[in-house]
This record gives sequence, C-alpha cells and structure tokens, in this order.
Amino acid sequence: MTGPSGGAAANDSPVTGSRSDPAAGPSSGPLWLPFTPAGGPPTRLLVEGRGAEVTDSEGRRLLDATAGGVACAIVGHGRAEIAEAVRRQLSTLEYYCLFGYRHEPAERLARAVAERTPGDLNHVFFTNSGSEAVETALKMARAYWRRRGLTAKTGFVSLRRAYHGMNFGGLSVGGLDENRAGFGPLMAGCSQVPAHDIDALAAELDRRDPATVAAVIMEPVQAAGGVHPPPEPYLRQVRERCDAADVLLILDEVVCGWGRLGHWFGGHRYGVAADIMTTAKGLTSAYVPMGAAVASERVHSEFVDPGGAIELMHGYTYSGHPAACAAGLEVISILEREGLVANAKAVGAHLQRRAGELAASPLVAEVRGEGMLAAVELIDDPPGAAVRLAAEAAERAYQQGVLVRAQADHLGVYPPLIFDEAMVDRVIDTLASVLADLESGARP
Ligand SMILES: Cc1ncc(COP(=O)(O)O)c(C=O)c1O
Repeated sequence: MTGPSGGAAANDSPVTGSRSDPAAGPSSGPLWLPFTPAGGPPTRLLVEGRGAEVTDSEGRRLLDATAGGVACAIVGHGRAEIAEAVRRQLSTLEYYCLFGYRHEPAERLARAVAERTPGDLNHVFFTNSGSEAVETALKMARAYWRRRGLTAKTGFVSLRRAYHGMNFGGLSVGGLDENRAGFGPLMAGCSQVPAHDIDALAAELDRRDPATVAAVIMEPVQAAGGVHPPPEPYLRQVRERCDAADVLLILDEVVCGWGRLGHWFGGHRYGVAADIMTTAKGLTSAYVPMGAAVASERVHSEFVDPGGAIELMHGYTYSGHPAACAAGLEVISILEREGLVANAKAVGAHLQRRAGELAASPLVAEVRGEGMLAAVELIDDPPGAAVRLAAEAAERAYQQGVLVRAQADHLGVYPPLIFDEAMVDRVIDTLASVLADLESGARP
C-alpha cells in the first residue's frame, strides 16, 4: 500500500499507475467490502459478540436474528470453549497440509461429519468455504462420470433463484441473474429451470439429453434467493428423476445443514439422500472458515485406485486446516450437548407461527420459511419499493436493537439455533411495529 495514509514502509517505492486515495470517496478506505455499495449508506462497525447478541461501536447491543449476518453462527457468538479448542490445536499443530499427510483433527472431524450426514455420504473433502465446496462437488461429479468412461456427461441443471456461491462454477449453476451479470461468459453446459416444478426439471433433462448431464444441483430450501421451501414431495421426485436419468444429485446444504431446518440436514428433513452434499457455515459456526463436499459410497467408490494414482486432482492449501477442524468438532459437541437441533425444531415452529402474523401487514407480500429460516417479502408497488422498504425496515429494527437482514425484496430472519421463543417474539414484535410505523408514515 502506498500513500500518506497507507503507512507504507520507508523503502517502498511508489507504484506507477496506481492512484490510491482512500479518503476520496465514501468507502471504508482500503477495506473493499463484499456485496456492499461503497457509495451507499455508511456501514456499521461491530465490535463484540456474546450468545445471541452483538455489540456495535456505539455500545448498542443487538439481538442477532441473522446468526452473524448470513446464517453462520449457529451456536451463537463468543463461545469460549470453541476459542479454547482452537487455541489448544494451534499450540499443538497449527498447520500441516493434507496433500499426502493426515492429522488427527481432520480425521476426527471427517468421521464426525460422516456419522451425521444423511444416507451414505461418508467421504468428506474439506474446503475453506461454501463456494469452494460447490466447485469441489461439481468437479467430483464430472470426474465421476469420466472415470466411468462417460466423458460427455459434463453439464449441470439447476434451479432459478438458486445460490451456489460466487466462484465461476457456482455462478454458472446459480440462478440469480444479478450475480451472474457482470462477468462475461460462464461455464458452458449449465441451464436453470423454474424452482420446484418437477415437470420442468424432467423436460429439461430430456431436452438436454441425460447423456450430457453430470448432475442436478439444488438447495434443500432455497435460502439466499428468498427462502423458498420446496413443496412435498418435490425433492423425492427429483431424486427419482435423477436416478431414472442416471444423473447425480448434489444437495447444497451450506445453509440448511447442521440444524437450520430443525433436522441435522435438509436431506433428513425431506427424506432424500444426495450423491454429493456440500456444507460450510454451520460446520464451524463460522468461528474459523471451512466447508466440505461429502461424497456417497457410490461416488467415492468410483475414485478408489489401487494403482496409487491421485484419484481427484483437486485440493486447497488449507483443506482441513487444524484450527477449523478443532472448531468444527467443538461445534458438533455443543450442538449435541445443548440439544440445539431439537431446539431449532421447537423454536423454528414458533418462528414460523409468529412470522406468519406479519403477513397481515399491508406492506407484506408473503412470508415464507422452514425451521429457523424465514423471509418476509415486501410489496413491490411501485417497482423498486420492496428493496427500499426492506432496507428501511432493517435499519429501523437495528435502531430498536434487532438485527435482521435486508436482502433484495425481503427481510431475512435466520437466528442462531440457541434462540428461544422469547427472542423470536422480540424479533417479530419489533418487525411488526416497524412495519406498522412504515405503513402509517411516509414510505421510503
Ligand atoms: C446454498 C449456498 N451455497 C454456497 C454458498 C457459498 O458459501 P460461501 O459464501 O461460504 O462461499 C452459500 C452462501 O451463502 C449458500 O447459501
């Protein structure tokens, strides 16, 4: 970094052609925030998290109904036992690469994950994020068919409104136009069909010719795209269609996994075993970044190579980082010690009941949800109003000490699994009063 405010080392020479003036715009200087307009309203500075609350730099304590903003912090903030587990691991073996080596935390976490996943998803390939988990799953699916000699099976079918992360593969199978628009051509051979329409999926598989399709990928409940639970028995029908067409099914459980739906995984909730599953977020409750792609016996068995060749030419420097594994093991232990999956089921039912009451507001178009995942979609009349209303409602809730997420046309509510009914009541009562104020006053 150069320039007077950059604190450049004395022997740095100026970089020709770079123009660095962090003070010039309304941005936060050198920190380039993801998914945030630098020219938008000032962003908040958060300084501390404890349990279901975070505190901002003005000392305001906020009930966090977003589990760290994006449905990550499932066991709540500031857990000393996770910090201690990570500290212990860092002072024992802080890191060693898994390329050709093993360490105990990775082995233990892989076993713990495999024991809890639906069906026979038993082979855990660690990544550092949900996006990397998706890329890994897509590559696994293609490589699986290649190993079987079916080299034309390279395509993917996915759902509109789907969110599968921000890397090129995930964008290519993603179904949110605004995320795909800015980057030129994406991966070939990917198509999207309307969500939760089994006939549309079947027709697309026929149209594409299953001999060219590696996998269908979807979220159990579409989360970032607006919280759309599938109608029953859609996911089971998808499983049947994939089997009939001899196409793999990838379930992207990055949000739905680890209790979010009141079950360990979305696959359990909807009675479907995937061929490959992705996970991240709740896997470590975001204390340390981590994701994984988990392969079924069917998929993994195709990769076993007694000849000693590398089966999947893929991996990340930090795959299975010991600190992340230590965090993940402690998170699973907390989920079980504290019965948080069962809590999510009970409190999630309360959340759905109470959130449904918000549909009575004339500003609300629809309320959707499943378990500890809910969206309050706002009316979009005139067009653009919903986005402005969501931003304004979230801001007013913030001022009243409640954090919800303004996401496009809706308010997202996805609390940590430690939430109790009284916390849900506070969130919904706050949103009800905010919506009533917005209705009676001038709309943004
Ligand atoms: C279903 C799904 N898949 C993948 C991702 C990408 O995860 P990450 O942001 O950790 O890369 C997300 C993130 O929200 C997600 O919701």
